[in-house]
Amino acid sequence: MRRIAVFASGGGSNLQALLDAQDRDGFDGRIELVFSNVIGSGALDRVKGRGVATLCLPSRGFEGSREEYDAQVLAAMEASGIDLVCLAGYMRILTPVLVRPFRDRMLNIHPALLPKYGGAGFYGHHVHEAVLKAGEKESGATVHFVVEKTDAGPILLQGKVPVEPGDTPESLAARVLRVEHTIYPEAVRLVCAGRVRIVGDRAEIIGP
Ligand code: GRF
Repeated sequence: MRRIAVFASGGGSNLQALLDAQDRDGFDGRIELVFSNVIGSGALDRVKGRGVATLCLPSRGFEGSREEYDAQVLAAMEASGIDLVCLAGYMRILTPVLVRPFRDRMLNIHPALLPKYGGAGFYGHHVHEAVLKAGEKESGATVHFVVEKTDAGPILLQGKVPVEPGDTPESLAARVLRVEHTIYPEAVRLVCAGRVRIVGDRAEIIGP
């Protein structure tokens, strides 16, 4: 059984989708810990009364370097025996201090069809604004493994949605979020089942 930690800074609807999938069909793992860098993050509330540990290390006001922050997070993950980290709206750039030990064991969900609309500056509504501005006919979401370069790791799953006439960043974000809630649990299920192999910069799904 994988011991899973979910990192979230915001409302945590993807965390909720993972919890729901765990309750419904289960995967060969369990969400043991929810971590946030933001006090009062809605994600922390979502696991109240569920027997899931929570941890909040506020990044605002943290006096050390990013590396020192990540070293504390890493120590907490190791103390809890976490072997899979799922970033779900974790609004912080990670340093190698955290990324390297979790190589091939850390997933992220991004609200666009990577490699397009990823990297520095492409987060939240900025992503959807850029997609609309470019006149794209479709957008979507991507689950990928985390590497040191932002949004650049091996892609595991993608889900597409159409861009509709008259879409605003908000309406497109809502449509993309619905697909996120499907592909993220599926990605975690595949990883927990040992059905993902990373070959170079590609993630391959093994089996039927
Ligand atoms: C999602 O759009 C995700 O793709 C991005 O951050 C957002 C988090 O939403 N990385 P939520 O907190 O899971 O509702």
